[in-house]
Amino acid sequence: MLIAGNWKMNMTRADGLALAGAVASGASADLDCDVLICPPATLIWPVAEAVAGSAVAVGGQDCHPAAHGAHTGDIAAEMLADLGCGYAIVGHSERRADHGEGDAVVRAKAEAAHRAGLTAIVCVGETGAERDAGKANEVVARQIKGSLPAAADATNTVVAYEPVWAIGTGKTATPADVADMHGHIRSLLPDQDAMRILYGGSVKPGNAAELLALDDVDGALVGGASLKAEDFLAIAGAAGGA
Ligand code: PGA
Repeated sequence: MLIAGNWKMNMTRADGLALAGAVASGASADLDCDVLICPPATLIWPVAEAVAGSAVAVGGQDCHPAAHGAHTGDIAAEMLADLGCGYAIVGHSERRADHGEGDAVVRAKAEAAHRAGLTAIVCVGETGAERDAGKANEVVARQIKGSLPAAADATNTVVAYEPVWAIGTGKTATPADVADMHGHIRSLLPDQDAMRILYGGSVKPGNAAELLALDDVDGALVGGASLKAEDFLAIAGAAGGA
């Protein structure tokens, strides 16, 4: 299991370091899952220092396809690796929507993560309108086909299924829908047995155990609930305590 916290555009130094410290001390106990924090880029270095020596890994929320160059405001995967990151999230629905990122760009970013030695967490998921139109499986299949590099395998890639309508809304997909979609994604993956598939979208302490117990759910990508150490650790406990 992998429990990943996506802090999004939240936290400045004081509160971010307090949160990272609390997660690191809580996670070092006897958790039986991998724990990852993805802070905003400004906090990657101090958070990496704060969790060094603990069981907690650090990742970026995005990366640019290129290794360096004239790309104002962007961050290369190599820069993330240089700060101690082991992972980069790519293709999050907020980047797909807010920055117009399509599957080809997401694939290029995942390839950049691989080039830098990072594990790419490739996000996919349908909108509410697409689900209502009965197109969820088709949309996710297209995203998987278009966003995963040819070289993606269980050692360098994690898929995160995040239905857009469930992100930050308090709504979660039903366990039956999550199980169906994760089985569908599993059938589309090149390395069928081993690649981790995370569920994301309003994962909380109260629903984590049920979601994480489903077939083909290998962890969670957690937004809002990763901003409170107690909640994030409770979700990790639900994954690692089984
Ligand atoms: P949420 O976000 O847990 O706040 O719904 C999940 C995500 O976007 O990764």
